[in-house]
Formats: sequence, structure tokens, C-alpha cells
Amino acid sequence: MIIKSTIDRIMEATDIVEVIGEFVQLKKRGANYVGLSPFANERTPSFTVSPAKGIFKDFSSGKGGSAVTFLMELEKFSYPEALKWLAKKYGIEVEETVESTENREEENRRESLMIVSGYAAKFFHESLLETDEGKSIGLSYFKERGFTNDTIKKFELGYSPDQWEAFTGQALKDGYQEEFMVETGLSVKRDNGSLYDRYRGRVMFPIHSFTGRVIAFGGRTLKNDKNVPKYVNSPESEIYHKSNVLYGLYFAKKAIREEDNCYLVEGYADVLSVHQAGIENVVASSGTSLTVEQIRLISRFTKNITILYDGDAAGIKASLRGLDMILEEGLNVKVVLFPDGHDPDSYVRNFGTNGFKKHIADNKKDFILFKTDILLKEVGNDPIKKAEVIREIVESIAKIPDSIKASVFIKECSYQLQIDERALLSELNKMRTAKARKDSQQQQNTRPAPVDEPHFFDEPQERVEREDATQEKEIIRLLLLYGNKVIDWDGIANTYIGPFMIAELSDVDFDYPAAKKFTEIYRREVENGVLPDEQYFIHYADKEIVDLTVTQIATKYTLSENWYEMHKILVPDEQANMKATILGAIFHLKKHKIGKILEGLRKELQTTSVEADQEILLNQYMHMKKVEKTISDYLGSVILK
Ligand code: CTP
Ligand code: MN
Repeated sequence: MIIKSTIDRIMEATDIVEVIGEFVQLKKRGANYVGLSPFANERTPSFTVSPAKGIFKDFSSGKGGSAVTFLMELEKFSYPEALKWLAKKYGIEVEETVESTENREEENRRESLMIVSGYAAKFFHESLLETDEGKSIGLSYFKERGFTNDTIKKFELGYSPDQWEAFTGQALKDGYQEEFMVETGLSVKRDNGSLYDRYRGRVMFPIHSFTGRVIAFGGRTLKNDKNVPKYVNSPESEIYHKSNVLYGLYFAKKAIREEDNCYLVEGYADVLSVHQAGIENVVASSGTSLTVEQIRLISRFTKNITILYDGDAAGIKASLRGLDMILEEGLNVKVVLFPDGHDPDSYVRNFGTNGFKKHIADNKKDFILFKTDILLKEVGNDPIKKAEVIREIVESIAKIPDSIKASVFIKECSYQLQIDERALLSELNKMRTAKARKDSQQQQNTRPAPVDEPHFFDEPQERVEREDATQEKEIIRLLLLYGNKVIDWDGIANTYIGPFMIAELSDVDFDYPAAKKFTEIYRREVENGVLPDEQYFIHYADKEIVDLTVTQIATKYTLSENWYEMHKILVPDEQANMKATILGAIFHLKKHKIGKILEGLRKELQTTSVEADQEILLNQYMHMKKVEKTISDYLGSVILK
């Protein structure tokens, strides 16, 4: 865990306008800054940053929070990742507590592997640009392929000299440990224990993690020898799990988000050429077939994938089945074929950015229709084959979670396959039923997943009736806004509004989970002698709390106006009459809760036939009624006068 004092230093150094400004173009407007929402497609800016409070609020998507939660939302960082990003930006050294020696060691090992990988990337890059061999062999190869200096620098392309120990020797000399050089696969151990370079005489493509660190390499041979493997890639290691990585994602994620689409290509060269042509939302699965993890990685940024295939029919057929997986994840898949002999790399180099874009626009097909097309071509007049194709297509459609979308495909495919729509639908329903049965069986066999982790991106509002949530959130708003102000009514002296409210509400059960959590935190801090303020909650480590805080600060008066309107109470200015504002909110909430208790008692009374029970219930009911009346009278006297 990152220690508290480091977090404090990061928070102090962080300028939210500066941080968000790296991702969103901000313009000053009054005390705030505004820009176009990075979370939604909008033309008029509704994304607002308040430097004074250190918060942002996006009125398009409803998201809001601190600089930290912004990075978590946009870059999909974890909380510590976001903190480390900020620490790096502001040159703050991160101190972490030792969790357990085991954890620590593992962390250290991973870090060591990343450090040696970063070192190697630099070594290969320099040997490409600064050595005679690198320049005459590696660099001239890249130039011949049309890569510019900018591309070479951005992707840190390199060259590994055609010698046995060029890298290994230098790394050892610079103090890197054998263990990590071998685990990353940069060096290979001979039987006699000595090391040699894995990539000799190859051009090097470093593979970057999600956060931009080098974690692996692909090395391409420059020889035309059939016996030499074209690519040599890093082995799996503690920092490199092939199935979790997409080549180019680090450089593509911003564009993927902006374009709301991700191009998927096959190779390193395709990524580089397409990216260089100004189409930056492109990634490669690098030779392996696409995995669920890779799809989930993309789906954090967009729900739209466009697969760019070179025209090799055998390869396409083989990959068709794998693509159903993307449908299952609820993504929209489009497919574009390139003419025989062309891949995205060669096509964009030959026909330029516009030609490339035009080809995509003219040829992109929805995956299901594309698949139908391809499979139908082989059917001819064979009815059995046709039945198989129909089955296979419906199987794909059955994987689409959105049933409206699925029914659209059913319609289109019925036309394409020349088969009655109802026949396809009944086939689809059969598969769905079978799948549901299988799923429920599986669920019975597996224990439910533990739910201790908060679901950061869920909106829990709807779980509670709106009325409850509104009143409870109103309490939070008042705590945030006035909690550290001194009470100025009825001669109550030296008491702050926050602790007063918390004490008054100690008999109230909050139903809205975030509000419940919030008041519990508040109560705990008050008991510790701390008066938590806005900033305390804005920088709280739990995103649910930050969200609630920012929403309450940002919605300010609008919410309470509605609320007072709803209760037909006139409060001209809540600050002018703090007593009415605070007590009004507290007692309205109490009244509402009592109303719910009364309703429950009423129901019980109706269903109980035992006389003794009835009497007890009736007593409770009358008691609550009295409390309700007292509160109503009180509300009337305090607020309506
Ligand atoms: N690949 C691999 N090992 C091989 C061949 C291919 O790992 N022996 C992976 C690489 O990630 C490569 C991708 O599959 O980028 C696509 O292969 P290919 O089209 O042959 O490579 P390109 O990147 O297109 O290379 P080039 O254009 O230089 O031939
Ligand atoms: Mn190629």
C-alpha cells in the first residue's frame, strides 16, 4: 500500500486542470474550466473542472470526481496506478508499506523484470540509431518499409546486433542480474551456464504494457531463409502474459476512445503503418488468435471492433469461430477484407490514408453477415451443408446478449439465407433455452463469487426508491456544505453542524448504500475528533464515496429546490435560515422513515390473526403515530413560520 504521507504529497502537488488538460482541451469559463466530455460524444462542452475544489463533473455521462478518479475512469487505472501516474508526473517518490514479505518480493521481481526490459529497449533503440551496423542494416530496413523517424522513436523500434553477446555482455557490465535477463528471455542460458543473446541480427519491436512500460519484444529476422523463424518473441513471464496484451494498445487507447472504434490487425508492421498514416486506433493480437482477455481490454475503451483481414481465405475461415467470443462479450464486430496479396500495411502504403479509409468504408460488413457470406459460398446446392450453415449462423446470433440486435440479424440473415424468418427464430429460441438451462446448472455447481469488492462503475441509485435516496443524499449535501460551520441558532454554542446532524441521525437507518457508508465514515471521524470536509471526501480512496460527494457538491441547489418544492416548503435561502434547512432535512428524513415503519406495521396488522400479537402491533402503531405527529408539528413550527 502507498503510505498516507505519500498520498498527501501527491494530492498537494496535483493540479486537476493540468492533469485533465493532458486528455481534454479545457477553456476557462469564470472560475471553472470547460471542455468536451471524454466519456461521451458531445458537441457543446458540458465537462466542467473546478480548480478551487479539485473536482470535475461531466454532465453528459454523469461521471465526476477528483484527478485520481478521472484517471481511473478514463485510463482504467486502479487506485494505486492512478496515484503512481500522478507521482511520476509531479516527481514525487512513492513510499509503500511492506505488505507481506512475499508480496513485496513478488512486486520487486516484477519491477526488476520491467527495469531490465526497459533497459533492453533503450539498448536496441540506440544500437539502431547510433551504431554503424544498426544504421546500415536495421535502420535502412525500416526506412525501406517506409517508417518515419517519428514512428521509429514513438514505438522505440530497435536493432539487436548480429553477435552472440552484444546485449548480454553490456547488460552484465551495467550490473543487471542474470536471473532477470533469462526470465524475460532477453538472454538464453547455455548448458555450461554462460549466457547468449536471444535476438541476434533482428529488428526489434518492443511491446508496451497498458501503462506504457516495455514488457516484451518481437524480433524480426532480416534474412530470407525458410529455416529461420520470421519472428522470435519473448517467452511468457511474470510481466508478460501474451493473452493479456495487445500490441500498440498503449499508443492507441486515446484514439480508440475518441473514435469509439478499434481496428484489429494481425501484425506489428500493420499497426505501425496504419498508425503512421494517422489512423491511431489500431492494435494487433500479434500472431495469436484473439483471447477473451484481449477483447475485454478493448471493451474498456469501446464496444466497436473492426477486424482488418488480409485476403487469405483459409486464415479467415479458421478465425471465424473465435469471433463469436467477441459477440458474447456484447461488442459490435465489423469485418473488412483486403484484396488478395494486400494486408493493411501494404494497402495503406500504396493507397494512402484516404484510399485506406475509403476501402474500409466501402467494404466493411457486419460480422454475422460476413460469416454468412463466406459460409454460403461453399454450400452450392447441397441442402445438408446449407442446414449446417444455418445452424452455425444462428449459433453466432444466439451469442449476442442484446436481443433486439439479435432479432435484426435474424431478419437480415433470413433474407441472405433465403429461409423463413420464423424458422430461424425458433432455432434461435431453442439454442437460447438450452444455453439458459446449461448456465443455471453451472451456477448451481459453483459457489457465488465473493462480493467484497465495490462495483465502482455501477450506479446503485435504483436499488432504493427515489424518495429515500433523494432525502438521504440531501443529508450528505448538507454535511458536505455546512458540516464544519458552527450552529447559530437557539443558543446552542460551540457545536458544529456536522457532528450535530450525525448525532441527531443516530437512530436513522440509511437505505441508500453510498449514503450509509458516507455517514458511517463521518461518524467514525467525528468520534476520532476529526471534522471531515469536502476535500476529505473528494480524495477518499473509495470511488463510490467520491462519486456521491462530487454529485452532491455539483448539483448543489438544484436538488434541494426540487426537494423543497416536492414538500411545498418555502425556504427562500437555505443559508439565511440554517436552522430550517438543517432541521428540515433531518426531520423530513425521519418522518419518511417512520412513514415506512407505519406502513409495515399496517400490513402486519392486516395479516395477523392472533389477538395478542395484534395488540402489541397496535401499541407500536399508536406510538409511532404519536412520534410522527410530534415531528410534523415540529416541522411546521420550525419551518413554516
Ligand atoms: N508472427 C510471429 N511469429 C512468426 C510469424 C508471425 O509471432 N513466425 C506474428 C507477429 O506478431 C507478426 C504477426 O504474427 O507481426 C503477423 O505475421 P506476418 O503478417 O507474417 O508479419 P508482419 O508483421 O506483417 O511482418 P512483415 O510485414 O514484415 O512480413
Ligand atoms: Mn506484413
